[in-house]
Amino acid sequence: MTSLQKFNDSTDITMENLTSKTTGNVYVDNPRMSARDVNVFYGDKHAIRDVTIDIAEQEVIAFIGPSGCGKSTFLRTLNRMNDTIDICRVEGQITLDGEDIYAPSVDVVPLRARVGMVFQKPNPFPKSIFDNIAYGPRIHGLTKSKSELDAVVESALTRAGLWNEVKDRLDQPGTGLSGGQQQRLCIARAIAVSPEVILMDEPCSALDPIATAKVEELIEELKEQYTIVIVTHSMQQAARVSDRTAYFHLGDLVEVGKTEQIFTNPSHKLTQDYITGRFG
Ligand SMILES: Nc1ncnc2c1ncn2[C@@H]1O[C@H](COP(=O)(O)OP(=O)(O)OP(=O)(O)O)[C@@H](O)[C@H]1O
Ligand SMILES: [Mg+2]
Repeated sequence: MTSLQKFNDSTDITMENLTSKTTGNVYVDNPRMSARDVNVFYGDKHAIRDVTIDIAEQEVIAFIGPSGCGKSTFLRTLNRMNDTIDICRVEGQITLDGEDIYAPSVDVVPLRARVGMVFQKPNPFPKSIFDNIAYGPRIHGLTKSKSELDAVVESALTRAGLWNEVKDRLDQPGTGLSGGQQQRLCIARAIAVSPEVILMDEPCSALDPIATAKVEELIEELKEQYTIVIVTHSMQQAARVSDRTAYFHLGDLVEVGKTEQIFTNPSHKLTQDYITGRFG
């Protein structure tokens, strides 16, 4: 008997898992993004270890795990936001529609339009509501006339569920909106440049339950068109909005699976401990 057979016989682990230490299937049939053997370091600190995962077209995938396990770090590798941190080094490969996003020829400005980001704390620009949304289309030269720009702004605000609340005050500062409105403004700003993927890092943690419910509804609608990766500390939120869930622990991607399976029947003990509240 070969050592491989022995390994297969003694466990349920498939061939796929021999190259990945993650429990569950990390691959999908229709990947929009793929990460292969990704490691991230902050100086000597090894923050993400050998993470391999696909992110499918038009799915919502939730990243969960205890504080400091690397959720934000890994999320930021997906649009090279870590480039802005001097001591941060990323190894491995990440592709968007099959193209290596870390290739030297890649310009991060258009990349970050294709892979947009929404942060924990709403961060509208100190500009009018209109100019917050028009900013991206302007710098990327996406519209040719004022009327085209007006249409893009209206469409982004409508898709973000904010148009009716702001249509009569487009020239007023974005910072004058409520927290929940500001977060929807930031989502509208991200979608105004027609991204393929939207990364959200705890987008509701600064919002009240009503504003949170609106953002969750919005995620549900946006997934018809976009791929969404959401980091959340709320397991209820992950269960409500996501199709798949990835559980991180101390820099490792421990388990990936359909959200329902992860929350009702996790395969890995660490996942089980976390979702039952024994850890984190
Ligand atoms: N800019 C940085 N410089 C040095 N170390 C960092 C930096 N950002 C994150 N780290 C470290 O990397 C590890 C992962 O941090 P990260 O912020 O990705 O965790 P997280 O899972 O998002 O946590 P939280 O749930 O608290 O947001 C932690 O040990 C953290 O201290
Ligand atoms: Mg974080």
